[in-house]
Amino acid sequence: MQANGKLRLGVNIDHVATVRNARGSAYPDPLRAALLAEAAGADGITAHLREDRRHIRDADIEALMAGLTAPLNFEMAATAEMQAIALRLRPHAVCLVPEKREERTTEGGLDVAADQNRLTAFVAPLREAGIRVSMFIGHEPRQIEASARIGAAVVELHTGHYCDLHQEGRLAERDAELRALAEGAALAQSLGLEVHAGHGLTYDTVGPVAAFPQVMELNIGHFLIAEALFVGLGPAIAEMRRIMDLSRVA
Ligand code: PXP
Repeated sequence: MQANGKLRLGVNIDHVATVRNARGSAYPDPLRAALLAEAAGADGITAHLREDRRHIRDADIEALMAGLTAPLNFEMAATAEMQAIALRLRPHAVCLVPEKREERTTEGGLDVAADQNRLTAFVAPLREAGIRVSMFIGHEPRQIEASARIGAAVVELHTGHYCDLHQEGRLAERDAELRALAEGAALAQSLGLEVHAGHGLTYDTVGPVAAFPQVMELNIGHFLIAEALFVGLGPAIAEMRRIMDLSRVA
């Protein structure tokens, strides 16, 4: 997946569907956004089929699988229903996320350590189907070690807390969180895991995470879709890409 060390950008298009669903209309179309994102330099597309289908719907996933050239990263909860969909559609990657109906977004990482036996059995058929399995987790060593034990290929480190601390101006805590993320990225790589990161990233917060040498992919959604309202999706992605690449070099 990572040939030349270039940091990949996965664009999450969930909130195109959020806008569509707000009016029960057929537009804006998530597939159209995904194709635009591809053309603007996204290396992959991410979509989260939530249990309550609040944004992305089953038909969107089918349309993305049929219409995309870029790899689809299918975010889902570790449920039998979602596993069956993934095994039928065989996306490039599956990212397992915790899901609570009442949350506004994915608030914490998956507790892999507490659910190792079930997750080992859950991941095995996905791997056998050739799907890269990623665990969306916090930076705690026990979650990273458990992800390696259960047979995941990838961990996606949750950057939401770091971004919240930045937004709240709690800069010493933000920097401590960033250090913990850096240590987590190093540990994950030492265990043979590919390292991704994402959640809450903006132009202001992406740089330090893009600079972690172990991080191969960032998944970014809400900010890009919000920014697209003002400048268009292509320019928003191009600017994110520019900052990522600059930070990587630096
Ligand atoms: N990565 C994962 C696993 C997520 O669940 C999300 C949110 O759906 C993102 C990345 C993207 O987060 P944001 O929309 O805040 O950029």
